[in-house]
Formats: sequence, C-alpha cells, structure tokens
Amino acid sequence: MTKLEQIRAAEARLLLTTYDRSPILFVGGEGVYIIDEKGDRYLDLLSGIGVNALGYNHPAIVETIARQSRALIHTSNLYYHEGQAELAMRLTERTGLDRAFFANTGTEAWEGALKLARAYAGLRRSEGAKIGTKFLALEQSFHGRTFGSMSTTYKEKYREPFAPVVPGVEFVRFNDVSDLRAKFSADVCAILVEAIQGEGGVRPLTQEFFAEARALSSSTGALLIVDEIQAGMGRTGKWCAYQHYGIPGAPTDRSSSVGWIQPDVTTFAKPLAGGLPLGAVMCTEEVARVMHAGMHGTTFGGGPLACAVGIAVIDTIVKEGLLAHATEVGNYFMESLRSLARKHETIVDVRGKGLMIAAELDSADLAKLTVAEMLKRHILINCTSDTVLRFLPPYILERSHVDTAIAALDEIFAEHAAAYSAPAGGKHHG
Ligand SMILES: Cc1ncc(COP(=O)(O)O)c(C=O)c1O
Repeated sequence: MTKLEQIRAAEARLLLTTYDRSPILFVGGEGVYIIDEKGDRYLDLLSGIGVNALGYNHPAIVETIARQSRALIHTSNLYYHEGQAELAMRLTERTGLDRAFFANTGTEAWEGALKLARAYAGLRRSEGAKIGTKFLALEQSFHGRTFGSMSTTYKEKYREPFAPVVPGVEFVRFNDVSDLRAKFSADVCAILVEAIQGEGGVRPLTQEFFAEARALSSSTGALLIVDEIQAGMGRTGKWCAYQHYGIPGAPTDRSSSVGWIQPDVTTFAKPLAGGLPLGAVMCTEEVARVMHAGMHGTTFGGGPLACAVGIAVIDTIVKEGLLAHATEVGNYFMESLRSLARKHETIVDVRGKGLMIAAELDSADLAKLTVAEMLKRHILINCTSDTVLRFLPPYILERSHVDTAIAALDEIFAEHAAAYSAPAGGKHHG
C-alpha cells in the first residue's frame, strides 16, 4: 500500500465524509507550485481556494511564522498583544472603514457582520428609528457553513439538510434592480452582497444594482454589507472588489475622498493571513457604537501569530506591487481565455477581475472532465456552479504560467469538446 492509499483508507474509516478529495497527497510547495509526495509539481491556479495569495513558501510568511512562533503564538483576547491594532490600521487604511473585529474563518467573520446588523438595528429602534430585522441576500450567494452564514447562502443543498435555518432572510434575484426595490422596506436591517460572487460563478454585481443597494439601504439606515472573503485583499487588483464600483461624479483619488460605493460593513478571510486561519469584520464608527465589551468574542480570533502574518501579507503585497501585477496578469489571462473561446465554442463566457477569473462552458460534464484532465496535466483549477471553470491563482502568477494553462485547456477542448458541447447559441464574451 502506498502512503496515499494508507491515508485514504484511514480517512475513510475515521473522518466524517464531508469532502470528495482528489487522490493526491501534497507535502510541499514553492512559488506557484504545490508538490506531491512523489516530488511532482502542480501549477496551482486555485491557491487553496483563494487563500495562498503569495504562493507557497514565501520568505515573508515563513520568516514571520518562525519569528512570531518563537515569541508568542496565543494570548486569548483577555490581554493585549502587538498585532491586532497594527493589522487593523492597515485594513482601515485600505477599506474606508473605521474599526475591525478579528475572527478565524470566513464564516465566522460573516456571522459577526450579521450580528452587527441585527444589534445595530436594535440600537436604532431604541433611538426611535423604524427599522426591522430582515436580511436581503442575493440568489447564488455563498457566505459560509455556520447557521447564520448558511441561512444567507442561496443554494438549497447547503441549507435544506439542516432546516430550520435562521429566519428573516429573503433572497433577491441577482442584479435585478426591480426585484431589489420590490423586496426592500423598513423591515430590512441589511442588504448582503458579494461585489463579485465567488461560488456563484464569478459574477460581478452591475454598477446599477450595487448603487441601488447603497441608495436603498442609506434611505432607511439599513446596512450595506459586502462579503469580500473571496474577492477581497487584492485578488481583483484592488484591496476590495467594491472599490471597482465608482460613485458617479465622485473623485477616484483615495487621498481626497472615498471614490467608490462604500459599504457600512465588510468581511475578509481567505488570503488575509497567507494560509493561516484569520477573518475580519470591518465597519464604520457609526455601526461600531453598538458593540460593548462581552457582546461578541472568540478565543482564537486575531491571535499574535495570525496577525503577524496578516501584516506581513499586506506589506508584501505593497512591497512587491502585487495589486498592479494581479491586474496585469489577470487581464492577460482573460484575453488569453477569450482567444481560446474564439477557437472553442464550448466556452460561452469569460469574466472576472484581476486574478478572480471564470470561463463558463456549455456543458457541466465537460467542465468536470476539464478539471480532471487539467489535474492529469498537473494543473489545479476547480469548477463551481456546475459549468464554470474557476481560476483563483496566487498573486505572484506570471504570464508564462497562464500560457501553460491555456495550452492545456486548448488541448483538452480540442480532444473532448465535440463530444459534450450543446447546440450553438447564447455565446457572449463579457
Ligand atoms: C464569499 C465567501 N464568503 C464566505 C465564505 C466562507 O469562508 P470559510 O470557508 O473560511 O468559512 C466563503 C468561502 O468560500 C466565500 O467564498
């Protein structure tokens, strides 16, 4: 029995069967490559589902972990350590928001955002405002697996086995402004969006929908909460995906004023600490006034080790110019996919921002096969929303890696697309 076979047998016996893993045993990584136990290198275009922003074994992360783990790993939130305010300062400077709460994961950050919204609405009611407790979330949204997050996540398959879910959530059709207007009222305490939906298939909000969500929420004092767990922290070429959405007529120079549609609350996780678990909820000073000591908390969240690495990740993104790099290589990646789409009809849409990219196929079976065929060629991608090939590579990706991936896709579609493709129609390259 190989080591992989032994581990598979042990996991089959010992773990809850929540994951359908590919049969590879990874033991190391370097740059954009992850390495299996045989020493084979895989080009990682998924980066641990959008986590390993600086790739593998980046000296800034490795050295920070070594230094900080020798100094202090955990304190609890009963005492001070050096990292939280330092990291919060970097995040407030980059989000247009005023305060942070540190959690461990995406779903925990999102729970914090939902709790802030309900508590803030309660505070406003106590001050005489007419505001309810309802959440408006979007169809195809994904916010995580704990109860609140799951209840605001659209797909039935995530919620149905655990019913009853948290009440008070209504779903709005994606990018449908009239549906948003029809469902919005003084009962709503928050509108919940991803500026670019991740699991939902890398789908950006329209400027019109996002602006209307901001306008409606501001009209009653409801909150606009933007989930940046997948799209945030530089992946799209800006610190937050919502910063791609300008306010008509507003200055775009951050030093003079916030020039983008500004949420009241946002959440980060995934790449925040370069592979260590860390999440954050960010909010305005106005919203923050609802919190008082003891109202919310976590044992591990914002520990010294994760915060030190979070600081190193942000500083490295700045030092290495990775926002501009993600934009440049991401544009090249999308242009290359669009060229491929002209050759292979099976690609019906290419979309994304920076290094959050999707190629939608006209066949779910072909999408599944493509992921498997890429894996055979030692390239990691995944498939979301059945037909969408998703690319979330590390920000250090180079054009040559894109060329490798495109050549592999070209070969796979040339060999297999004809057998799967639906009749032509509805092709559009966004
Ligand atoms: C937009 C978004 N929100 C929340 C989550 C949940 O994050 P986590 O898996 O860290 O709980 C995810 C994870 O994929 C996500 O993409």
